[in-house]
Amino acid sequence: MRLGVPRNGGFRPRVGAVTETAATVWEGGSVTVRVWVNGHLRGDEASLSALDHGVTVGDGAFETLKIVDGRPFATTRHARRLDRSLTGLGLPAADHDVIASGVSAVLGAGPPIPFGRLRYTVTAGVGPLGSDRGATDSSGLTYLVTAAEQARPPESGKVVVVPWTRNERAATAGLKTTSYADNVVALAYAKARGASEAIFGNTRGELCEGTGSNVFVVIDGVIVTPPADSGALEGITRGLALEWCREDGLAVDERALPLDVLETAEEVFITSSTRDVLAVHAVDDRELAPGPVTSRAAKVFAARASEDLDP
Ligand SMILES: Cc1ncc(COP(=O)(O)O)c(C=O)c1O
Repeated sequence: MRLGVPRNGGFRPRVGAVTETAATVWEGGSVTVRVWVNGHLRGDEASLSALDHGVTVGDGAFETLKIVDGRPFATTRHARRLDRSLTGLGLPAADHDVIASGVSAVLGAGPPIPFGRLRYTVTAGVGPLGSDRGATDSSGLTYLVTAAEQARPPESGKVVVVPWTRNERAATAGLKTTSYADNVVALAYAKARGASEAIFGNTRGELCEGTGSNVFVVIDGVIVTPPADSGALEGITRGLALEWCREDGLAVDERALPLDVLETAEEVFITSSTRDVLAVHAVDDRELAPGPVTSRAAKVFAARASEDLDP
């Protein structure tokens, strides 16, 4: 395993750095986040160059994985998607040995995390102040890995449709880049309306996705989700849910749907790494009863996920 520290603009790790740092979260509580940057567990001291292109222009990609009983779920699929995002950004491939050493450092930096979130980010590294990138070779990439415990997901959630669109023709459509400000604004809008997720349509007026989740509807008993060309991220949970539900005999389909399908669908659910299959009990002012198809999909997902940590 390569443990070398990539070139990163001259930061100097402090020997014996604190291994955990408390970060305040917007919900008003606080959570302990384990932080690893470019080869070193970090405390709360500065650990990233101010010139990092991930900071200045959001030039990077990331993955969020569920941690269950101290171990990350679906690591292979997440690693492949990171590579797809980096390729889509025109960045060199990540060194997955470096990521793996960061992952084991944060997971081993304290007691096993019973349920939580592992996030790793790879940015273009130190770059110009503008959008131009200059020459970026793989030794210049910045690697960040963080892990934190979090509450298990609720039984169901409310979603709100936001007035902004996903651009399915954007250069970064379908890539999990660190440019997430659109999602930040949309989620704040949804939370201000008592929801836990915001849903985007795309520029064609079709249903697209949430800020951090994929969306599914049930129509005539069939589970339907927008295809990749809607501009939605191809979620790892989405892919597994489609596969496992199909194998369990449920009818599933990927096709374009009008955004207003949310006003008539029999059932609605969302999927994401830390929420698995989550029933939606309200879309804006429309309340929905928990449905049998969603409940079966959630059960199928839970059963299959418990059989294999890296499906
Ligand atoms: C924009 C977006 N769509 C969908 C998802 C769901 O993807 P996954 O199932 O891989 O977590 C995410 C995950 O955070 C996301 O950021």
